[in-house]
Amino acid sequence: MKTLNLEINYTEYSSLDEMSAEDQELVRAAVEAQKTSYAPYSKFNVGAAVRLDDGTIVKGSNQENSAYPSGLCAERTAMFSANATYPGRAMVGIAIAGGFEGGIDNAPCSPCGACRQVMAEYQTLGKRNMAVIMVGASKIWKFEKVEDILPFIFGSFNEKK
Ligand code: THU
Repeated sequence: MKTLNLEINYTEYSSLDEMSAEDQELVRAAVEAQKTSYAPYSKFNVGAAVRLDDGTIVKGSNQENSAYPSGLCAERTAMFSANATYPGRAMVGIAIAGGFEGGIDNAPCSPCGACRQVMAEYQTLGKRNMAVIMVGASKIWKFEKVEDILPFIFGSFNEKK
């Protein structure tokens, strides 16, 4: 028997201009996408932006429904739209921004478990790391790959490379 340790590295930015031009663009797209959020029930508005391997950015936002489980998170809206519009194109990054009543929360907006699983699937499909950028008003976190936010991923751990 032994106890193992898992280490996760990620980058914390205290402002947008510390980031690469490409990442800044993706963050801005996520913030812009937040404006299209339809969240009359939770009032928590989320925007997401996916970058494809050719530089294309696909945006999405959370879409709620009076039958609550029928709604969908911003991240999955963006990823499903990306793969439906550009099937087979690798997704190399996703940025997420959200907050109540259209604001951006201070804490970075962290994706739910279901969205992480969907990120894992598309990362495997694309055979490229998908960076995950969580945007907050006071700090931004960047994780280089989905494993960093979903260790021991179901079904895909050894298949990417
Ligand atoms: N939501 C997202 O869009 N992304 C997340 O990662 C967390 C939650 C949405 C779902 C729902 O419309 C609202 O935020 C409140 O949970």
